[in-house]
Amino acid sequence: MIHQATAYLKFIRRSKNQHGIHSPFVYQLITQCFYDKKKRKAYQLWRQAKKRLLDDKSIIEVEDFGAGSKVFKSDQRQVKQIAARVGTSFKRAKLLNRVVSYLKCETALELGTSLGLGSLAICLDNPVHLTSLEACPNTLDRAQQLFEELGCQEQIKTVKTDFQSYLDQLSSDQNFDLVFIDGHHSYAATISYFKQLLKHKHNDSVFIFDDIHWSKGMEKAWEEICQSEEVKVSLDTFQWGFVFFRKEQAKEHFRIRV
Ligand SMILES: C[S@@+](CC[C@H](N)C(=O)[O-])C[C@H]1O[C@@H](n2cnc3c(N)ncnc32)[C@H](O)[C@@H]1O
Repeated sequence: MIHQATAYLKFIRRSKNQHGIHSPFVYQLITQCFYDKKKRKAYQLWRQAKKRLLDDKSIIEVEDFGAGSKVFKSDQRQVKQIAARVGTSFKRAKLLNRVVSYLKCETALELGTSLGLGSLAICLDNPVHLTSLEACPNTLDRAQQLFEELGCQEQIKTVKTDFQSYLDQLSSDQNFDLVFIDGHHSYAATISYFKQLLKHKHNDSVFIFDDIHWSKGMEKAWEEICQSEEVKVSLDTFQWGFVFFRKEQAKEHFRIRV
């Protein structure tokens, strides 16, 4: 907690908006996508989906994968509590939905389905096909139920797996327009997934890393990712870090308030 508060103060001091950004690609991304205030049908649909989960008092047994929870003490968790504490916020869901639309993503991969709120933010009202990975069977069953209730089961392919096993068997010709890395928030895991996922990107892909300032380890991972030779543009929006690989672009790092 202390680490996150300090990191946030540092971010606020150093971050900016679109002013002074010379890269046309980044300037347009910020002004036409990040700061786009237009209403989208998907926002309302996403809110309704979140409400369904927040109204769900049933209890599921959750297996913790990754770096574990800083919030939950017990494995028996109410769906509504998971939705309130773990699921993507409305503000972030809207941003993710816009990014998929703005970049015209057709294929996406999500590491960490949880109850499916991130998956829905990616898919609702966007013509994208998502593969979403989750190791906890009961959590994934609830997500799957939500996708069926909303008629998204064809668009979202869920895989009950740990991330590593999935990446190990991923065919080398499989590329993704967008990869959302939202699970297993440790230095070693994040760096390892990043390196493996580099084989599945193309020039216009975007990778989004969640919780880049969650811990010292995640911050270190984020810095290394930004410094990687293959990354051209990195955008720190505090909770999420975006990286782009566009070869035509000068290497630059930005801290942007969203
Ligand atoms: C923060 S939640 C994902 C939230 C979701 N993307 C959203 O936006 O609502 C992370 C999820 O990743 C899963 N997870 C963590 N590490 C994993 C691993 N190594 N393999 C598979 N699943 C993992 C956890 O079980 C958890 O449900």
